[in-house]
Amino acid sequence: MARDDGDLLSGDRSASPSAVAPPRTPPRIETRRLRRELRSGERTLVVVDDLDLEVAAGECVSIRGPSGAGKSTLLALLAGLDRPTAGSVLIDGRAIEGLSEDELALLRREKIGFVFQAFQLLGNLTARENVQFPLDLLGRRRSRERAEALLADVGLAERGHHYPSQLSGGEQQRVALARAFAAEPAILLGDEPTGNLDSATGAAVLDVMMALRDRFGATLVLVTHDPAVAARADRELVMVDGRFLTGG
Ligand SMILES: Nc1ncnc2c1ncn2[C@@H]1O[C@H](COP(=O)(O)OP(=O)(O)O)[C@@H](O)[C@H]1O
Ligand SMILES: [Mg+2]
Repeated sequence: MARDDGDLLSGDRSASPSAVAPPRTPPRIETRRLRRELRSGERTLVVVDDLDLEVAAGECVSIRGPSGAGKSTLLALLAGLDRPTAGSVLIDGRAIEGLSEDELALLRREKIGFVFQAFQLLGNLTARENVQFPLDLLGRRRSRERAEALLADVGLAERGHHYPSQLSGGEQQRVALARAFAAEPAILLGDEPTGNLDSATGAAVLDVMMALRDRFGATLVLVTHDPAVAARADRELVMVDGRFLTGG
C-alpha cells in the first residue's frame, strides 16, 4: 500500500496501474435500458421505458409519480418478480435476467425485503410467526428469539401473539417491516408503504423504516405518492410514463 501511494504521488502510473484505477464497487442496484412492454389488445403499452438507474449501497432513493407511471412494475423488475422485455437489472454487478425462478427466489429471500401498501401479512399467523417465517425458510438459527427481538425493535414487544386482524394499520406495517428486515436484506423495496396510513401514523412507520435501514445499512428504494415521504430520501426521482423526469 505504501508503495502504491508513493507511485501515485510521484506520478509514476506505469508502475502501479491498479493504484490509479482501483476496481470500482458496482452499484447495489443498476438498470440498463430497462424496458417493460405490455400488450393491451392491439396496442403495446410501454410501462418502463428504457430506464437507466444506479442506486449505491446504503443509499435511499424515493420514486414519486402519478398512478400508472410504472413505479410498481419497476420495483417488481428490480426484485425479479417480473421479467423485462429488454435491458437488464444488475444486483451487486450481477445481471439477474439469466437466473432461473429458483435462483431468483433465493436471491429475493437472501437479499431483498419488500413492504407493500396493503401490509400483506399472513392472516393465519401471529405477528411473531409472520416475522419468524422467512427466517425459518432460510434455516436461520434462533429464529423465534430473533423474531421477538425484531418485534421489540419496532415497538411491538407485547403484541407478538396477536393476529394481524387484531392490530391497527400502523402496527401491521411495523410487523411487516420487522419481517422485511428479518433476514438483514441488503435491499429494501417499499411500494407505497405509508399509502394506507394517516399522515401521523405514516410518519411514525417511516421513522421505524429509516431506523432499521440505518441499523442494517440497507439500500432503500421507496415508491410513494407523498412528497413529504419522498423528501426523506437521500435522492428523489420522479417517474412519469415509464421514465424519470430527472436522471436516474
Ligand atoms: N398485469 C397488468 N396488465 C395490464 N396492464 C397492467 C398490468 N400491470 C400494470 N399495468 C399497467 O401498467 C401501467 C403501470 O402500472 P404500475 O406499474 O402499477 O404503475 P404505478 O405503480 O406507477 O401506479 C399502468 O398503465 C397499468 O394499467
Ligand atoms: Mg403502484
